[in-house]
Amino acid sequence: SPVHDLGNTFNGMAGNIQQLMQSKRELVDAVSHELRTPIARLRYRIALQQSTQPENSALAAMEGDIGVIDNMIEELLLHSRLDHSKIEVQPVDIDVLPWLQQVLSEHRPDTGQLTLQLHNHTGLPNPQLSCDSFYLKRALSNLLRNASRYARHTIDISLGWNDNIASLIVDDDGPGIPEQERDNVFQPFVRLDTSRDRRTGGYGLGLAIVSRIMQWHNGEVKLSQSPQGGARFELRWPSPLRAVNSNAGNGSGSGPQAGLQGNTRAGCRPMYIRLQSETIAQQTQLRHGPRIQPSAQR
Ligand SMILES: Nc1ncnc2c1ncn2[C@@H]1O[C@H](COP(=O)(O)OP(=O)(O)OP(=O)(O)O)[C@@H](O)[C@H]1O
Ligand SMILES: [Mg+2]
Repeated sequence: SPVHDLGNTFNGMAGNIQQLMQSKRELVDAVSHELRTPIARLRYRIALQQSTQPENSALAAMEGDIGVIDNMIEELLLHSRLDHSKIEVQPVDIDVLPWLQQVLSEHRPDTGQLTLQLHNHTGLPNPQLSCDSFYLKRALSNLLRNASRYARHTIDISLGWNDNIASLIVDDDGPGIPEQERDNVFQPFVRLDTSRDRRTGGYGLGLAIVSRIMQWHNGEVKLSQSPQGGARFELRWPSPLRAVNSNAGNGSGSGPQAGLQGNTRAGCRPMYIRLQSETIAQQTQLRHGPRIQPSAQR
């Protein structure tokens, strides 16, 4: 019958599309992988030139561009790895506030004149949560990079914990994301603005990566509207909440300067610390939210 024929046609089409998507993915993987070597070579050659011409601004610009390409390739490869279930998250307890301060400070070059505010709603001055700090940092960084592109004045980062679920919210005061697009933006290669200039982003992989990372944490990422009218992204994952003995820290409690400690703890993967972090620490404010009684675990 015609309906049967139509059904067959559709099934055939669906199969073709699936095959196309698979080959697109393989192509993207292969190209990304192959690009790494020439890029590393270029970087090396530029570094050589720079050693004899440290003032050459063209070389500095080239180095910057290579950094951008490098980041994109890394994103592509990471997304592909996450997509093929080749990674395993390794949750460990981390001192969240110093860790957050560190991640925020690394974003200072992106956030420019924007105000970053960190709010602690856990009720503990030194909360400890369980997560894979390497991958969670990737997730948070992707959100911060987006937010710094769209926010007009302020980005608010709020840490919370309730009923064994940890929550990390990134709010911005930009244009937000229309309700009908909120599911789409988590799909790989989906970008709402059509321009591909650098200011407005890369491949549309950032949120797909965030979504995968949260899945691997048995958690989720939710998108809604921020109180300021912009976008609100919330990372949620199961974790116990513990209080860190404040004597074990550097004595300055949870103040911003505490942000540069704590990253060398066993279990946390090493992080690159930028020199500008001092200025960031001054600009980043830390606020305490309402107290929630932490439950004793384990
Ligand atoms: N905070 C935000 N405010 C408004 N729109 C956003 C925000 N974050 C993401 N978007 C929209 O969602 C799209 C997908 O975001 P995603 O991070 O996945 O990709 P991207 O930023 O365009 O590229 P990439 O992250 O790969 O560099 C963006 O292109 C943008 O249109
Ligand atoms: Mg992005």
